[in-house]
Amino acid sequence: MASKLPDLRSLGGGGGGVEDGGGGGKKWPGFVQFFFVLSVVLCVLLYAPRFIVLTPTYGLDFFPQPPPNTSTRLVGQDGGGGEGNAGDVVVLDNQLHSPCSSLAGDTICCDRSDFNTDVCFMAGDVRTDPSSLSLVLFPQQPPAANATVEEKIRPYTRKWETFIMSKVEEVRLRMAPPEEEPGHRCDVRHDAPLLVMTAGGYTGNLFHAFSDGFVPAWLTVQHLRRRVVLGVLSYNPWWAGTFGEIISGLSDYHVVDLLHDKRTHCFPGAIVGTRFHGILSVDPARLRDNKTIVDFHDLLANVYETAEDTVVVPQLESTTTARRPRLGIVSRRGTRVIENQAAVAQLARSVGFDVDILETANGLPLPASYASVSACDVLVGVHGADLTKFLFLRPGAALVQIAPLGVPPIARGCYAEASARMGLHYEQYDAEGHESSLSRKYGLRDVVVSDPEAAKRDKGWGFVARVYLGGQNVTLDLARFRHTLTRMHARALRVRSLQAAP
Ligand SMILES: *[C@@H]1O[C@H](CO)[C@@H](O)[C@H](O)[C@H]1NC(C)=O
Ligand SMILES: *[C@@H]1O[C@H](CO)[C@@H](O)[C@H](O)[C@H]1NC(C)=O
Ligand SMILES: *[C@@H]1O[C@H](CO)[C@@H](O)[C@H](O)[C@H]1NC(C)=O
Ligand SMILES: *[C@@H]1O[C@H](CO)[C@@H](O)[C@H](O)[C@H]1NC(C)=O
Repeated sequence: MASKLPDLRSLGGGGGGVEDGGGGGKKWPGFVQFFFVLSVVLCVLLYAPRFIVLTPTYGLDFFPQPPPNTSTRLVGQDGGGGEGNAGDVVVLDNQLHSPCSSLAGDTICCDRSDFNTDVCFMAGDVRTDPSSLSLVLFPQQPPAANATVEEKIRPYTRKWETFIMSKVEEVRLRMAPPEEEPGHRCDVRHDAPLLVMTAGGYTGNLFHAFSDGFVPAWLTVQHLRRRVVLGVLSYNPWWAGTFGEIISGLSDYHVVDLLHDKRTHCFPGAIVGTRFHGILSVDPARLRDNKTIVDFHDLLANVYETAEDTVVVPQLESTTTARRPRLGIVSRRGTRVIENQAAVAQLARSVGFDVDILETANGLPLPASYASVSACDVLVGVHGADLTKFLFLRPGAALVQIAPLGVPPIARGCYAEASARMGLHYEQYDAEGHESSLSRKYGLRDVVVSDPEAAKRDKGWGFVARVYLGGQNVTLDLARFRHTLTRMHARALRVRSLQAAP
């Protein structure tokens, strides 16, 4: 594994770099151990009740800033309530109806109301204490007697899952008592707030990297327009290298490796942890600026298309009308393999597609993956983490997810709603008994094949993981799958003629 790790230095000075603090970056132990430990299937458990609190909606103001000169105003309008300089304040918490939305400076406020995640905000003079993984707030005035003086938080979006949360470091937030005032000189002074997130958890799995990590981080800080410093736990070069473009899309600054950087960093505010709106989801109704997952897609398009110079882009015909619709087949290895993939590709060609086989785990950097997936009109694949790359499809394209026996509800839970919200057409092709390799092992009449939902009952998670997810391939029934392909082909032509229309 280590040999595939990119050299950090090669990332240059962009946002994907790391602040070179004392001892920084010399080790990144232990993070690999959670790679692929859990498959994406857990995502079905994530659906959580939305929590809405009815409170005033104005923001946690934390530092004055020149009014932004671009379209959306980022400001709260409380404070002076005034016309002129109401615009001089940046809002830390972009979420509507948050318990932390209307607080003044010199405060620590945590919103623990969400089922999936906790998030804390600190407004004021915030400094890191590297010796204790703490953020210390130095108030300008003595704090009120009832002010929050200490909070602890593990910044990850699966707070209901004890095992993985115990692997995420706990960050301590505290208000400095008056006598501590002179301590803690700043080694590095930042003029942008800090976002504390982790590169740990299940980040080694692409689905989790996006669903637990980057989408939540983006929806928590996108309103700051990259004027935010990422302070990362479990920082490691693999993470920085794999996701360098996205990291630069989130932040204009070097990443701070919180566990290894021995310097005191000072910030005008901090956000610890991220919001979570659902699996690969952004809920515009919960955001002050109504952003959607399409805006997240736009970020990917921006960062990956600029990275494209270094990447071999599939050559398309110069006139889009001349080219056949393009179908990408996500090709897995080991389990949930399409055993007759070559015949499926041949069928797709005969239906009228240009076909691109997209190998999973081929070590291709994400910008290259982005280039090949975004060129597709239709993406077809068996359920698995790699389908997270539907995020790379252009709005209007289609995702066809093949669900092996026993997997349909999980498959749907992971990608159906999320891809529809991105403006994609979603279809699910549920394999039948005769298309599953389990029919060879158990026979068509065995309950494992004939009624997977019944077979799963009372069996527990291990059974599902072993039999249906880990022990099954599919051989698509070409006559049956042809209907799906024909429909997708007609649709792709329709979409194209609509998009070409003046
Ligand atoms: C602000 O925007 C206006 C209009 O978009 C433009 O004319 C002006 O030059 C901008 N000012 C700065 C300081 O960028
Ligand atoms: C602290 O007390 C003041 C005055 O009683 C009250 O207005 C304020 O809401 C309280 N703050 C917190 C964080 O409880
Ligand atoms: C967000 O949507 C609401 C309701 O549709 C609208 O009133 C508001 O102006 C929108 N805000 C922005 C920043 O577009
Ligand atoms: C699925 O296909 C892969 C690759 O051909 C093979 O290694 C694996 O043993 C197959 N699994 C089953 C359950 O047939």
